[in-house]
This record gives sequence, C-alpha cells and structure tokens, in this order.
Amino acid sequence: MYTSKISGLGSYVPENVVTNDDLSKIMDTNDAWIQERTGIKERRHIKKGDGNSTSIMGVKAAKIALERANLTSDDIELIIFATLSPDMYFPGGGVRVQEMMNMKTIPAIDVRNQCSGFVYAISVADQFIKTGMYKNVLVIGSENHSGGLDMTTRGRGVSVIFGDGAGAAVLTRSEEEGKGILSTHLHSEGAHAKELSLEGPSTEHWVPEIIAENPQENIPYYPYMNGQFVFKNAVVRFSEVINEGLQANNRTASDIDMLIPHQANLRISQFVQKQFKLSDDQVYNNIQKYGNTTAASIPIALTEAWEEGKIKDGDLVVLAAFGSGFTWGSAIIKW
Ligand code: UT7
Repeated sequence: MYTSKISGLGSYVPENVVTNDDLSKIMDTNDAWIQERTGIKERRHIKKGDGNSTSIMGVKAAKIALERANLTSDDIELIIFATLSPDMYFPGGGVRVQEMMNMKTIPAIDVRNQCSGFVYAISVADQFIKTGMYKNVLVIGSENHSGGLDMTTRGRGVSVIFGDGAGAAVLTRSEEEGKGILSTHLHSEGAHAKELSLEGPSTEHWVPEIIAENPQENIPYYPYMNGQFVFKNAVVRFSEVINEGLQANNRTASDIDMLIPHQANLRISQFVQKQFKLSDDQVYNNIQKYGNTTAASIPIALTEAWEEGKIKDGDLVVLAAFGSGFTWGSAIIKW
C-alpha cells in the first residue's frame, strides 16, 4: 500500500500590508477591537495593478513547492485547487494554474470547501496516491478576499478578518512504512450553510435581481457571517475532528509535535491549544500577520513552520480546519 508524503511546500503573500490602523481610516473600527477579538495585527491585500490574482498567487506558491520537492511541472499528474475566491465564476483555478505552468493535459480539480478547502484537497490527493493512480499531486490553496469585501463600516464584522495569499504542497507517493499522511477525516453540515456564506451573484441571486432589490442592510454579494454562532461551532468541531484523527491512529494529544490549525481567529486556536494541553511551541499561528486567508491559511502556516525549522523528520503534525458549509476536517501526518 502506498502512502503520500509532503515533498515540497511553498507560500506567497502580496507585498501590500494593511494594518488595523489603515482599516480604521476607512471604516469605524480600531486596532484594540481587532486584536482583542481576533489577534490580527495586519493582513496582506492585493493592490490593483500588482499583477496578482487568486490563480497567479497559487502559481507563485506552487513554483516554490515544486522546486523544494526537486520536481518540475512535468512531473505533476493532478492539480487540486482550493479556493472560495476564484478569478472567474467558471472555469476554476486549477485549469488556469495548468495553463500558466505549461502543464500537460493532466486533470485539474477545484475544491469548494472554503476554510476546510486545503484539508479536503490533501485528502482527495491522498486517495489518488494511495490507490496508485498518481505519483505526484500539486495541491494549492489560494484566496483573493480583498477583491470582494465590503470595506465600509457595514461590513466591518467580516472585512477586518480576511486577507489574501496562497500556499501549496506537493504530495508524492512513498513506500516508507508509518510515514506520510496517516489519515484524513472530513465532515460537513449543510444545515448551517447560510451562517457563513456569500449568496450572489449566483443562480439563486442573479445580477438583475440584485440590482432591482439591492437592500442596503443585507447585500448578498458581500460575505455574511454569524460570527458568534460560527465561533461556537468552530471550537467544538476543531476538537472533535482532531480527536477523531488521533484516535484512528492510536495516538493522544501528548503525541502531537505540531498542530497547524486553520487561522480563523487566534482566540479559537488558543481555545483548542488549551483543550489539548499543548504548549506554545506545539501550535503554530500566523494570523497576526496575515489575517484569515481561508483555504490558504493552513498551507501558508505549514510552509512557515517548516521554514522556521519547527517541523522535523519524524514529527507528528496535525492539520485541522473548520469553516463555511459548515465543513471541517483533520489530517494526521508523520513527517
Ligand atoms: O474561518 C472561518 C471560520 N470563521 C470563524 O471561525 C470566525 C468566528 N467568529 C469570530 O471570530 C468572531 O465572532 C468575530 C471576530 C467575527 C466577531 O467577534 P465577536 O466577539 O463575536 O463580536 P460581535 O460580532 O458579537 O460584535 C460585538 C460588537 C458589536 O457591537 P455592539 O452590537 O455590541 O454594539 C459589533 O457591531 O463589536 C462590533 N463590531 C466591531 N467593532 C469594531 C463588529 N465588528 C467590529 C469591528 N470593529 N471590526
């Protein structure tokens, strides 16, 4: 039986830093509120004309991951692209990456699982590798949130949280026993789909309807989040799905060397850290610098943790995510 190992990691964030004070100049918010509730100090936003888009940032991260895996784009047999903010309504980001990286006519799958997108994507990649179908799969999480946020006081509950960026991982077939991706566990609960959503433009809310109705209070083409409800569900689901992964591998929290939680809110990460009695060096957070970058947050954090030497050969690494859908998932990796 084959397993998949992460053979290369890369990330990219736009140069343009947007601080909390910058936001307080365009909406009624302040640094103290944002830091106290979320831990975020600054985030990156694409600047008009800087040449970035969701798929372009994905390509930049992917090129770094490929180089570190000692592979070229010709070695990749499948692309999996996770985002909630694609360049276009259709087609998705995967085929755009394929074109920009001059890849062969390999398949490209787009994953639409928002904050859990990267965990879902590596789970899909892992299945293809385990069955022996592919040897090298490129997995990308990338988001351009700033292109679609309500940057007025009306949108402040959502807009201060999100940032732009991309992360990528190359998953490669391995026959090393007991190493690589040990398991992934995925869940969803569509009953709460509207608690964190962007309704239009979509086939349910198409452009003429939006223009005709356009209520000032509830504009469907900006994201909506029932923050406290999402928060309460997140802390429960994070814990459940981490436990599920640990139990499936006969491990306990004390075996975790590094937990990389989706960077939704520093308070959520701290809550989970406390629940599992983990020390500060067993949990990696960088939401302070980048905000919540949704499908990109785990691969960016994983890349930085690895670059900083915080993930070593033989470590037990746990990835966990929760977000819109609701969807959640975990991956247990023996590095
Ligand atoms: O990644 C996907 C998963 N997402 C999450 O897990 C996010 C989960 N939720 C959260 O992180 C938190 O709910 C938020 C950070 C989004 C919000 O924090 P909160 O403590 O739940 O605040 P709230 O929405 O209940 O708002 C509290 C107050 C309100 O004012 P009143 O009604 O008490 O007068 C808001 O209007 O804070 C006000 N407020 C703000 N004030 C300054 C909301 N946003 C802002 C803001 N700046 N940006």
